[in-house]
Amino acid sequence: MKTRKLGISGLEVSELGLGCMGLSFAYGPATEIKEAVKLLHAAVEKGVTFFDTAEAYGPFTNEELLGEALAPYRDKLVIATKFGFKEGKPADGMDSRPERIREVAEASLKRLKTDRIDLFYQHRVDPNVPIEDVAGTVKDLIQEGKVKHFGMSEAGVQSIRKAHAVQPVAALQSEYSLWWREPEEEIMPLLEELGIGFVPFSPLGKGFLTGAINENTTFAKDDFRNIVPRFTSEARSANQAMVDLLTKIAQEKQATPAQIALAWLLAQKSWIVPIPGTTKLHRLEENLGSVDITLSGDDLRQIEQAASQIKIEGARYPEHLLKRVGK
Ligand SMILES: NC(=O)c1ccc[n+]([C@@H]2O[C@H](COP(=O)([O-])OP(=O)(O)OC[C@H]3O[C@@H](n4cnc5c(N)ncnc54)[C@H](OP(=O)(O)O)[C@@H]3O)[C@@H](O)[C@H]2O)c1
Repeated sequence: MKTRKLGISGLEVSELGLGCMGLSFAYGPATEIKEAVKLLHAAVEKGVTFFDTAEAYGPFTNEELLGEALAPYRDKLVIATKFGFKEGKPADGMDSRPERIREVAEASLKRLKTDRIDLFYQHRVDPNVPIEDVAGTVKDLIQEGKVKHFGMSEAGVQSIRKAHAVQPVAALQSEYSLWWREPEEEIMPLLEELGIGFVPFSPLGKGFLTGAINENTTFAKDDFRNIVPRFTSEARSANQAMVDLLTKIAQEKQATPAQIALAWLLAQKSWIVPIPGTTKLHRLEENLGSVDITLSGDDLRQIEQAASQIKIEGARYPEHLLKRVGK
């Protein structure tokens, strides 16, 4: 697989990464360990060098899984993890106090069975800790060799600028896909200006853009999508228009809707590296196939024109979680 550079940081990764969250957390029961390890190994064998986890995924179990599965390949890979929640639990609120960041770094290093974290993201901006202190703490960890690069997630323009002035940010990881394009307004121009790479999360719209989910789909009891307004049955029915568009383009290109959703992201900027997640081998293969699809200028204009006619229904997060983004 080809590689891409995340901005001017020097961090080079496979053009598609693997989002590992769903193997342990958020979308129903965790995948059985043996199966999860198989999937991670298959990803490495297929050329993926960029793996995304967080203290909060589980919490802790996702990092432990990656530590176990990826140890044999460690030196070929870029492993990204995240700090920033109280005790690693998103439900308990944010905690980016410097002492906590250090604590997470040490614990993540152990769980990941490694001596350095390649990319350490702040998961959400903590309103109680000046962003300069957060960036300064990560800067110290970089000087100590425990962390290689600094990242932020769902941060707003001001926070990114202030943090970047203290410790250059290598990558921003925020939601971006054909049904969530707000980053195009202010965030992407800023990333371009500062030379920061962009790692779109939920690039498949948490599965919706693949066409595998419709208004009748039911989710497991603990699936996060049960509380996302964009995933109510009515919203799914209204938003089907976007899947129909992807399906139409996919047919023209002899591809699948998931592949078009990813190829569209890859076509936006050369410093974008999406991290689709899956728990299934055949979908891993399908998603990686998107790197071979080229969308021409005409294709992109056709998608743009059609997408601009579609009004997406429902917020991408419930109210209490929306308050945490864009800060
Ligand atoms: N920074 C943050 O705050 C944040 C937030 C969310 C996610 N993330 C990161 O971003 C990664 C990806 O985001 P995400 O998992 O939320 O969403 P996503 O990648 O957009 O979609 C994942 C969902 O799509 C399904 N799927 C994947 N490929 C498919 C295919 N080809 N056909 C049909 N269904 C398919 C998966 O189900 P199966 O498992 O059944 O295939 C899963 O339910 C996460 O793993 C995590 O590392 C970060």
